[in-house]
Amino acid sequence: MTKIVDLRSDTVTRPSAGMRRAMMEAPLGDDVFGDDPTVNRLQAHAAQVLGFAHALLFPSGTQSNLAALMSHCGRGDEVIVGQEAHTYRYEAGGGAVLGSIQPQPLANRPDGTLDLAEVEAAIKPDDPHFARTRLLALENTIGGKEIPRSYFDSALQLARKKSLATHLDGARIFNAAAALGMSARDLCRGFDSVSVCLSKGLGAPAGTLLLGNEALIGKARRARKILGGAMRQAGLIAAAGLYALEHNVARLAEDHANAQQLAQGLRDAGFDVQGPHTNMVFVNAPEGFADHMVNNEILVLGGPRMRLVTHLDVDAAGIERALAAARSFTKKPR
Ligand SMILES: Cc1ncc(COP(=O)(O)O)c(C=O)c1O
Repeated sequence: MTKIVDLRSDTVTRPSAGMRRAMMEAPLGDDVFGDDPTVNRLQAHAAQVLGFAHALLFPSGTQSNLAALMSHCGRGDEVIVGQEAHTYRYEAGGGAVLGSIQPQPLANRPDGTLDLAEVEAAIKPDDPHFARTRLLALENTIGGKEIPRSYFDSALQLARKKSLATHLDGARIFNAAAALGMSARDLCRGFDSVSVCLSKGLGAPAGTLLLGNEALIGKARRARKILGGAMRQAGLIAAAGLYALEHNVARLAEDHANAQQLAQGLRDAGFDVQGPHTNMVFVNAPEGFADHMVNNEILVLGGPRMRLVTHLDVDAAGIERALAAARSFTKKPR
């Protein structure tokens, strides 16, 4: 039986045998009482690795981002955020629905950044007509694109000057760090909060960490409770997260190399390709291409701009199989 190659997302990975073993063997407690030793170990380890005072484990990135928004902003406050940002576009409007927080979306530039002059112009004056602009929320990577440290230095400087808090959706911060050749800790420096997913490129089945100082994490713990995200024997998930941080960070470069191979192969086969951006490749998909790939056991998502994502469950042979399927669509010989 041939193995299906799943390029829909880096969230599709299954826990490896080693990760499952770590989960089975993890000492457990009740994290709502704060006594799950594995959760506590993960949180302490992540805080230390990423350079923050505290970390808090959430079931998902959506909930971690929302808890961060709710910790920085109250009812009637405003967050400045990119049109393409996950927190704005792909999280069901949670900040508005559950946090009474008004989003002020701004267009992302082609490189994924926000124009800082536009950010500054969008900050509302202190006037009862306006929502209170409280927070600047950024993302790295965004659409797979890594945002360099120099941009964050400028953005954080502006936020400080304007007394805005800052949140980074760093769901794939380790991909960004690998692409930029720097540590995730250096990329996170200066943000008031950072959300880091364990269940994307790092291969854990669930789990996201929110990082911040004591006051911020205290508020986020309350928000997590409100949102129903306080878990009991969460050490099962934390053990997978610890395993992921220990074993699956350094290998992200392989995913980026596989994305390079995929992008080049698709170009050679005649496709209109954008990227790769870290572990993501985008293709202007001709009519019928998605169905053709799925029929050839290459799982992809449909749509005119197809996103293909590499991850630890796709190796170089899997990329070659995907390319063979793509070539058979265009009928181009090698
Ligand atoms: C950039 C980014 N942030 C946040 C999330 C939300 O994570 P989750 O699916 O765990 O809620 C995702 C999910 O794909 C994402 O890509």
